[in-house]
Amino acid sequence: MANETAQKIGPVILLGPPGAGKGTQSKRIAIHYGIPQISTGDLLREHVARGTELGRKAKDIMDRGELVPDDLMYGMVADRLKHVDCSKGFILDGFPRTAGQAGWLDAFLEREFFENSKRCSPVVIRMDVDYTQLLLRLTGRRCCPTCGRIYNLHFQPPRVDEICDLAHGSKLVQRNDDRDEVIRPRLTAYEVQTKPVADYYQAKGRLIPLNADRPMDEVTADLLALIDRCGAPAASGMTKSE
Ligand code: AP5
Repeated sequence: MANETAQKIGPVILLGPPGAGKGTQSKRIAIHYGIPQISTGDLLREHVARGTELGRKAKDIMDRGELVPDDLMYGMVADRLKHVDCSKGFILDGFPRTAGQAGWLDAFLEREFFENSKRCSPVVIRMDVDYTQLLLRLTGRRCCPTCGRIYNLHFQPPRVDEICDLAHGSKLVQRNDDRDEVIRPRLTAYEVQTKPVADYYQAKGRLIPLNADRPMDEVTADLLALIDRCGAPAASGMTKSE
């Protein structure tokens, strides 16, 4: 969808464990509303690929399946959210991931975006998926290094084995942290450090749980309906970046 037809929907936050489908669904939501998907995992992987100072600090931590310290995340996220393309709304995929990050985000949104932060609270949706299904999704995931499309060898294989359907001839790759020995620490980090984020939003009456253990199209339809219902009224308060 072109920018001029982008709708204002306010921020959307997708929470959920590794493999819940946050990236898959964020991309669909982004296209539907014409707003950017902001994946902190993708941003960090770009820093690693470019060999920036942040990337050098983050690489080993990510390879171990642990969370990058909060203070390293804030500058990167703030820079990205200040881009003009975020003024009509954005989808956060992978952030916030600790209670500290959630508090920081609320303060940042109030300072940078909203005149009336209560009216413009983000839509926070937690995507719930069974543990065994998560393991299948993570071990089967393959990504196109050219166009970023996500596949799954079990549930959504490419037409030609290991080759992207869209980017001609690109061979699909497995993410470094989708190796067996890294998956479990990632799931543990979610249980210990990211579940409190859901508690944070629950306490503020903002958490919407969604059963994401269903076919992708069904999950997409429910997400769009939730965002249409909960996101639209927030838009008029997004002012400073417009
Ligand atoms: P990040 O890149 O954010 O990874 P993650 O949260 O572990 O999530 P994933 O990308 O693994 O899963 P997803 O929910 O996006 O699932 P996807 O749609 O791909 O983070 C990586 C690392 O960066 C972290 O470990 C940490 O070190 C660091 N980091 C990032 N953010 C941070 C932060 N805020 N603070 C600190 N550190 C941070 O789907 C998975 C698979 O399932 C795919 O193959 C897909 O095709 C398939 N699938 C999706 N939906 C369905 C469905 N409905 N049915 C069947 N298959 C499905």
